Amino acid sequence: MVEKDDIKVSQMMETIRSNLNLPEKVYFFDTTLRDGEQTPGISFTLAEKKLIAKALDEAKIDIIEAGFPVISSGDYECCKMIAGMGLDCEVIGLARLLKKDIDSVVDASMDSIHVFIATSDLHLKNKLKMTRNEVLDRITEMVGYAKDHYKIVEFSAEDATRSDLDFLIKANMTAIEAGATRINIPDTVGTISPTAYGHIIKNNREAFPKDVRISVHCHNDFGLAVANSLAGVENGAAQIQTTVLGTGERAGNASFEESVMSIYAFYGIPMNINTKKLYPTAKLVESFCGSKFRIPTQAPLIGRNAFRHESGIHTHAMIQNARTYEPITPSLLGINRGDEINQILADSIQFGKHSGRHALKAKLENMGITFTDDQFSRIMNRIKAIGDKGHQIMEEDFMAIVRDEIGDLPKEEKYVILDELTVLTGSVTPTSTVKLKIKKNGDYETIIGSSIGVGPVDASMQAILKIIKQDLEFELLSYNIDAVTGGTDALGRVFIELMDKKTQKIVTASATNEDVVMSSVLALLNGMNKLIKATKENSK
Ligand code: KIV
Ligand code: ZN
Repeated sequence: MVEKDDIKVSQMMETIRSNLNLPEKVYFFDTTLRDGEQTPGISFTLAEKKLIAKALDEAKIDIIEAGFPVISSGDYECCKMIAGMGLDCEVIGLARLLKKDIDSVVDASMDSIHVFIATSDLHLKNKLKMTRNEVLDRITEMVGYAKDHYKIVEFSAEDATRSDLDFLIKANMTAIEAGATRINIPDTVGTISPTAYGHIIKNNREAFPKDVRISVHCHNDFGLAVANSLAGVENGAAQIQTTVLGTGERAGNASFEESVMSIYAFYGIPMNINTKKLYPTAKLVESFCGSKFRIPTQAPLIGRNAFRHESGIHTHAMIQNARTYEPITPSLLGINRGDEINQILADSIQFGKHSGRHALKAKLENMGITFTDDQFSRIMNRIKAIGDKGHQIMEEDFMAIVRDEIGDLPKEEKYVILDELTVLTGSVTPTSTVKLKIKKNGDYETIIGSSIGVGPVDASMQAILKIIKQDLEFELLSYNIDAVTGGTDALGRVFIELMDKKTQKIVTASATNEDVVMSSVLALLNGMNKLIKATKENSK
């Protein structure tokens, strides 16, 4: 247990540790880009995935699961791209126990492979339509095939926690005999308690050779994913599969932030993670998740309330010793609280109009963000423009701007660009006039359209629709608006989902501006550009 000025947890942890079968080191396997991306409503762009992988690598993650390459060309591209980034961590790809899946991981040039097959009778009967013996034969054959290509083969028995324990051990042992070097034991549907999960891990640990690492992968259906992962570690698991912010299928996976800090605080087991990168990484991922997924105010460790204190008794005691009501200091997670105990936006940075190019470059590079000269100038100009209006930029505003510019299409790939927007609103019928530049035969043509609407956003959307309807017929599936930070001068970020009526292709887009009508129009144009680009690529 770590007991320093910056952390103090229960003494009982010290007492209990000696009774546990703790590993010498805990490794972290991140699956934000694979299981995390299976979160309903979350879909990262390739550029965002690259930034997430870079941030995780800088946090000293051990393994990144970049995707499931056989599933789609997008996943394949992402796997190949991340495997080629030259990261320090291992980049692993997921595959079913099928030759075509394994070949796809090999083709994407990934460092290692994670293969899986279900072992519960429920899955065998209803999904795989296989007998137990057929599953064992498949493991021998396909783990062996994976081993022909890779030194590191991680095997997962899907739905392990609802499998017969003897059969689970047999399946895992079969994988080890065929060449698996790591065994992951997933609680696929989050259907177990910590004690029972610990029992499963202990029995597997006792059956396996010592050099085979056991990994845990827990889903949060009952809110126990982190607790179950810790129970696994207490019984000899040396690897935890996590996702940033606990993203993942249904209720998600064990959160990276909570798992790392628990290992650090409760057990003090050595690990490679730089805990100071936890908060910046969490905020980076949050900024890519769209409006449907925000860090809850009450979230442990990284929520806005995690280090806020209301009661006078608490704040008074904390002035004497901050550990009285705070188990750890926020700076351990990379949250810079400064001097004020009640400061909510501990991570605010004072980027004003005088911010220099050097400071901006250093900040972007520190965050692992790669950018073109054009993207850099656009970010700089937007920061300056906000500073010129006398506003300060908070970290969230900054991330929203970066996301807009990095995730945006390069100018030459844009089919439609906003030239001017004039809106009349108040006690008159809302009216909008939009001037767009539309690419026709390689040149931009200026077209103006006007419309009334129920409000200024609606009027602007209708005006754009009028201009664009010959070129693209689309449906606005969803529209959400968010104030990036509080206050009337906050940036407004608009998220939309658009569908091309002809091809049924759906894209998500967003835009951020101090003026919400502008954010709405820019988000719509971003979405339209993405749809038109996708249609053109498909017709090639
Ligand atoms: O939850 C699960 O079982 C999985 C496996 C593919 C490891 O995600
Ligand atoms: Zn999973």
